Amino acid sequence: MTAASFHIPVMLDRVIEVLQPTPGKLWLDGTVGGGGHAEALLERSSPNGRLIGLDVDEAALVAARERLARFGDRVVLVQANFAEMKAVMDNLGIKAADGVLIDLGTSSLQLDSPDRGFSFVHDAPLDMRMDRRLRRTAADVLAEESAEELSRIFRRYGDEPQARRIAEAIVRDRARQPITHTQQLAELVVRIKGRAGRSMHPATLVFQALRVFVNDEIEQLKRGLAAAVDVCRPGGRIAVIAFESVSDGCVKNFLRQMSAECVCPPEFPECRCGQKRRLRLLQRKPWRPAADEAARNPRARSARLRAAERLEV
Ligand SMILES: C[S@@+](CC[C@H](N)C(=O)[O-])C[C@H]1O[C@@H](n2cnc3c(N)ncnc32)[C@H](O)[C@@H]1O
Repeated sequence: MTAASFHIPVMLDRVIEVLQPTPGKLWLDGTVGGGGHAEALLERSSPNGRLIGLDVDEAALVAARERLARFGDRVVLVQANFAEMKAVMDNLGIKAADGVLIDLGTSSLQLDSPDRGFSFVHDAPLDMRMDRRLRRTAADVLAEESAEELSRIFRRYGDEPQARRIAEAIVRDRARQPITHTQQLAELVVRIKGRAGRSMHPATLVFQALRVFVNDEIEQLKRGLAAAVDVCRPGGRIAVIAFESVSDGCVKNFLRQMSAECVCPPEFPECRCGQKRRLRLLQRKPWRPAADEAARNPRARSARLRAAERLEV
């Protein structure tokens, strides 16, 4: 499979409209993945626009390197967490970017790789680490955490309504046999929730919650958003695509807070927060994919894009 065929960049036209690539500019793509968005940014900023692409996943960087090879030294790819984007820029001796893109979640490459354990479509070891240097896999989490903690994880990161019952079943089952494979977990969830009348697989939310927890996605996202504001030059733009309500909620709150004049509680008679407004929201509501994109690319259906412009402060 070629790099170009495995991951279709989501809401590409809108991302381009928001980030406005032009020659001579520099972009920081915090989640370069298969390089789809990056390729479009580089094409539209020819002949000399540049891009720094980060990803925690080595396999993604291999694919991105192949797809972006024709841009030569206009691209620098680094295996790094986007939470560390400031340090990466410092190491490269670059002060600021003209735009930052963060496209969250898993790539099709990850979902479709049978050995990564992100999907119940393939029977595979329950790994789910995007960054394989992380210590704990999903199987480790299922083996080590208490029923209370597993229940919290499924509720907090998946909004799973049967979180408690599933967590208790995991703890009961693992006493007989460790839960190490995707099919084992998927079957356990089906046993508890049943299958009837569902528009999505019963295990979807449990798999999502485990992935978010294993990769510490919400904490990394908070750090990444703060870093994006630091590295983006005034007048530059930050665009974030999220697929799950737990991450989109985090993006929405962050952008709202950074673009507010004051963040004092409403009962305060006067402003005491000393807030410095650092962003201007481009649009209050998120952009959603058009119907034809959602029909063409089912992965895009739940995408929400939010964007803001960096202000002078
Ligand atoms: C949806 S894909 C990006 C696809 C890419 N925009 C494209 O068009 O090909 C998300 C990527 O982000 C990476 N990722 C997730 N969290 C990350 C983080 N905290 N830092 C860096 N990369 C991360 C994943 O490994 C995955 O490759």
